[in-house]
Order: sequence, then C-alpha cells, then structure tokens
Amino acid sequence: MSPQQTATTVNVELGNRSYPIIIGNGLMAEAGKHISQALPGGRCAIVTDETVADIHLKTLEASLKEHDVSFETLIVPAGEKTKCFSQFEHLCDEVLSCKLERGDALVALGGGVVGDLTGFVSGVVRRGMKFIQVPTTLLAQVDSSVGGKTGINSRHGKNLLGVFHQPALVLADTQALDTLSRREFRAGYAEVAKYGLIDDAPFFEWLCNNWQDVFAGGSARIEAVAHSCRAKARVVAEDERESGKRALLNLGHTFGHALEGAVEYDGSRLVHGEGVAIGMTLAFQFSSQLGLCSEEDTQRVITHLSEVGLPTRIDQIPGQLPPLEHFLTLIAQDKKVSRGQLTFILANGIGQSYIDKTVDPQQLSSFLGAKLAR
Ligand code: NAD
Ligand code: GLY
Repeated sequence: MSPQQTATTVNVELGNRSYPIIIGNGLMAEAGKHISQALPGGRCAIVTDETVADIHLKTLEASLKEHDVSFETLIVPAGEKTKCFSQFEHLCDEVLSCKLERGDALVALGGGVVGDLTGFVSGVVRRGMKFIQVPTTLLAQVDSSVGGKTGINSRHGKNLLGVFHQPALVLADTQALDTLSRREFRAGYAEVAKYGLIDDAPFFEWLCNNWQDVFAGGSARIEAVAHSCRAKARVVAEDERESGKRALLNLGHTFGHALEGAVEYDGSRLVHGEGVAIGMTLAFQFSSQLGLCSEEDTQRVITHLSEVGLPTRIDQIPGQLPPLEHFLTLIAQDKKVSRGQLTFILANGIGQSYIDKTVDPQQLSSFLGAKLAR
C-alpha cells in the first residue's frame, strides 16, 4: 500500500500553534512534501545522530531535494549523554553558523534524545525557530515528539533544563521502526503501555492481546502509535504546561528518572523506557503497599511488562547502584516537586492513575530501601 493509503493524522489542538501528527508506513520518503508545505520558502537543518544518519538520513535528504527544500545536516553522537550542555552549545553554534533565520526550521530526525536536544536549541536560538519532528524510535513516535517538552539533563538530574516549544509538524514513519533494536523497541513500548495504565484499561487489555502484532509491524503498530498520540494530544491540549493533568504522563517517571540518574545516563545499563518500566512497576507496588491498588492489578502490570521482555525490578539493572540517600536526593530534585512537597503518580488500579501530593517521605524511603536491598 502507498503511504497515502495508510497515513493517519492526529491533531494537537493548541489554537494558532496547533499541528498535525502524521503517522504511516513509509512516510519518510514523502517527508519533503509535508516539510515544504509547513515551511514555505524556508530553509532547514536536519539534526540527527550518528546511528540514524547511517540508516535513514539519505531517504529524508532525497525527499527534501525532490521538493526543493534547501537544507544543512548536523550530526550529534547517539545516546542519552548527548542531552548535555556541551552538545547544546555546539548545536546552537552550528545552527548560527548555517545562518538559519527565525522562520527557518530545525528538523529532528531520530529518537527522543535528538528530539529533546533539537527542540531546546530551536526554542532558544533567535528566541525561537521553527521546529519539525521526524521521530524514528517507538518512544519518540508515541511520546517525546508530541507536546513540546524539550530539554537536556543536568548533573542535578534528568531534563532539568529546557523549554516548552511546540513543533509545527510531526511525521511518524512506523516503518522506520523496523531498523530499531529489539531492546529499543521494547523501551518505547513501556510508554505505549503507560497510556493504558494511566486512564485507559481497555487499551491495556488490547495491548495484552496484541503486543506481538505491534512488535511485528503493520496495522497493529500504526494503531498503537495513533492511539497513543491521540491520548497524548488530548492531555497536551488540556494542560500544555503541566499545571495539572499533564503530570499523569509522568507515571513511573519519578522512580525511572532517579534510576537513570543513578546509572549516570549510561544506556548500556539502562535506557529511558526501561527506567519507565521499572518505575511504573514501583509506582503500582507502592500503591498496593499503601492499600490504594489491588495486588492483582499490580501483578498484571508486572506480568505484561515481563512477557514483553521489559525489566520490572531494580536488581535487573546491571552493576552497582548508589545508596538509598542518593536516590532520595535525585527524587527531591524531580521537576514535579512543589513547595518542597513530592508529587507522585499513583494508581487505584489499571487505568486509574492519579496525582498524589501527600506521599510521606518516610514511607517512600522504607519502600525504596527495601527494593534496593534485594
Ligand atoms: P534515543 O533517542 O537515544 O534512541 C535510542 C537509540 O536508538 C539511539 O541509539 C538511536 O541512535 C537509535 N535509533 C533511533 N532510531 C532508530 C532507528 N529507526 N533504527 C535504528 N536505531 C535507531 O532514545 P529514545 O528512547 O528515543 O528517547 C529517550 C529520550 O526521550 C530520553 O532522553 C527521555 O528523557 C526523552 N523523552 C522525552 C519526552 C518529551 O516529552 N520530550 C517524553 C519521553 C521521553
Ligand atoms: N512525557 C511526559 C510529557 O510529555 O508530559
């Protein structure tokens, strides 16, 4: 089937900053058409990482040439450590060296690392340039490319520096995921399952029955990506700057971000989606321990994440981990902390997550201490 026959569009409704997410198999080959429409007469710079450049850059470049879009290409190293000050500075300088104007665009071709870094650069260079996302990981297609959160990590913690800067267009070629490693595909799947666990029990049930088809590709994968994007678009339209409901999208992330910080963003030990899988499990286990959620639901979460091949326990992270106090320091730096009070996403059951600002630090400390002692 041609890309046009399979493409699905989800709109993120944000008034005059609304934008489409176009999802379909083989879309990369027609990216130039969509980008030229979003950028009439403008130039762009493709920002990608070394791995994605080797696999997908040629297709995107050919399509831009076909549609007379003038572009530069900027390549950064692959991996979470690229979301740092030095790469941010380097990329800002490169973009300025290319003499790109405010009305020109940065096109992020890659996973969440490239998307977050490029988005941040496009949000600050010339006080805000145009930004287009061409996500190539499952995680980026279902989560990070949508909603305008951009940023880098600090030695104080994950994603602590950044701006909200919405893209003008998101192009998700689901076929591009065929070249993703099994490990990275699974990691992205954690964010797909997250939408079911937050407020959509039927979707979680559907995933339990169809996850193998989602991994295999084709229409189930497109459906899972589109369903996830619809869920995220709804939340972002309601609460763009996370003054309330958007925090739900952080289910599992307070624990997960602390775990990523604890391994110093070493992707050979833990990638973001794996941290989210362990973090969501911890959020459900903590909820059960507090008497909020049935043990049965928590076990269903563990069973599903495990059958997919995701880690669900801290002791599955290879190598030594820092002591409990270090985790508690990282958790205290979480972006959701408000007036010193921790904000956790807990659950009354599958599809019944909620924002809890009453977590007792002592209870958290003894829960996490027990998990780390295993
Ligand atoms: P990533 O960008 O590091 O990509 C994972 C790996 O896959 C990299 O080595 C990359 O080179 C490779 N890769 C990418 N596409 C490929 C393809 N099609 N074929 C083969 N290899 C490919 O990681 P990620 O999981 O995409 O993103 C994680 C990041 O996203 C984290 O930094 C996380 O904080 C961020 N994030 C941001 C948001 C947001 O709302 N902005 C939401 C969720 C996660
Ligand atoms: N991934 C969390 C958010 O976009 O809010």
